[in-house]
Amino acid sequence: MDRTFVMIKPDGVERGLVGEVIRRLEKKGLKLVAMKLGRLDEKAVMDQYREHIGKPFFPGLKSYIMSGPCVPMVWEGKNAVPVVRKVIGATNPAEANPGTIRGDLALETGKNVIHASDSPESAVREIPIHFRPGEIVEYRRADDRALYETL
Ligand code: RTP
Ligand code: MG
Repeated sequence: MDRTFVMIKPDGVERGLVGEVIRRLEKKGLKLVAMKLGRLDEKAVMDQYREHIGKPFFPGLKSYIMSGPCVPMVWEGKNAVPVVRKVIGATNPAEANPGTIRGDLALETGKNVIHASDSPESAVREIPIHFRPGEIVEYRRADDRALYETL
């Protein structure tokens, strides 16, 4: 099944939005298969955001991401990568549609609550930055059949 890397950023943790974010992804039908809480070290931030190193906003992005604990997660489900990008909404919360996480819960690009992989290739690259293979948990959920089985 498709997997994506998702991370609640420090503003999301500090505003008590961890449960709200998880609730939205669970209700969509996605399955949580890995999760931790902690501060990212410098190497993880440089790996995670390597495409942005050298851009004008990178120093601010780096200090924002390292300013408090994050909640890195792996979510699984059919088309998990594009589905989660839809659920989180546009990068700039002022442009994100109502009903999306950023559209409903944030105001600024520099404090946009959540990260999610932007392509299946990004997901494959990002997951091992934050999780060892043994930290990804396989299990069956009661609603797997209800979500996927065509009668
Ligand atoms: P993310 O990687 O965090 O999921 O966000 P994204 O794909 O929607 O946006 P991306 O272009 O990858 O940018 C990564 C994060 O950098 C911060 N940013 N600030 N001030 C700015 O112009 C600016 N642009 C990007 C945001 O926190 C953005 O989520
Ligand atoms: Mg991105």
